[in-house]
Amino acid sequence: MNLRKKIERRRFYKHLQKETSSFIDQLQNKPQGLVLRGHVDIDYPKVEVGDGCCFRLNDYFRGTKDGMISLGKKVWIGDNVTFNSACKISIGDDTMIASNSYIVDHDHCVDTDGLLISSPLICQPVTIGKNVWVGANSVILKGVFIGDGAVIGAGSVVVKDVPANAIVVGNPAHLLRYRKQND
Ligand SMILES: CC(C)(COP(=O)(O)OP(=O)(O)OC[C@H]1O[C@@H](n2cnc3c(N)ncnc32)[C@H](O)[C@@H]1OP(=O)(O)O)[C@@H](O)C(=O)NCCC(=O)NCCS
Repeated sequence: MNLRKKIERRRFYKHLQKETSSFIDQLQNKPQGLVLRGHVDIDYPKVEVGDGCCFRLNDYFRGTKDGMISLGKKVWIGDNVTFNSACKISIGDDTMIASNSYIVDHDHCVDTDGLLISSPLICQPVTIGKNVWVGANSVILKGVFIGDGAVIGAGSVVVKDVPANAIVVGNPAHLLRYRKQND
């Protein structure tokens, strides 16, 4: 590796170290072994992150001051994933959320004559279990419970609960089959 590349790499790692410590400073807890591959933003909700989680580029924790987003241990988050919380979003240990997915625990009340943007929020917690794989570009809507070991196909819109070890696909997401497990 030439000198210029070495310097660039050193600068990149220094930048990541700075990003990681400013992210950890904003969290409710102090996780160990966090891996940050790029910028991650928090805008309003409380966020707690378990040990050994990995975030790729441009992940975003947003919502309201009443929001709470809780990630277990060794959760892997792809690029451009957004968590939008006005009450509670929980993710279990060893879960993967692939790039461009969007997880939201509220709606704007649509049955109103007024402006939708100022209509009250309807909040219901979202729970995603352990060892779940959420495929790329998926949307998980309010009130959904996803059981341990479930797989959400790429591009799914999940509007209702998903049983443990189920594979669901589509918009709205429906059962494709259950995972075959050897043990
Ligand atoms: C859900 C998934 C795991 C299923 O894989 P699989 O069991 O091999 O499924 P198959 O490819 O055999 O497809 C079975 C059926 O489901 C459909 N299907 C598969 N994935 C689908 C999806 N994401 N959305 C809609 N339909 C899907 C197929 O079209 C096929 O339908 P058919 O029987 O009518 O022909 C996979 O398709 C998927 O979406 N993977 C996510 C990839 C990803 O996001 N990677 C990010 C990197 S971490």
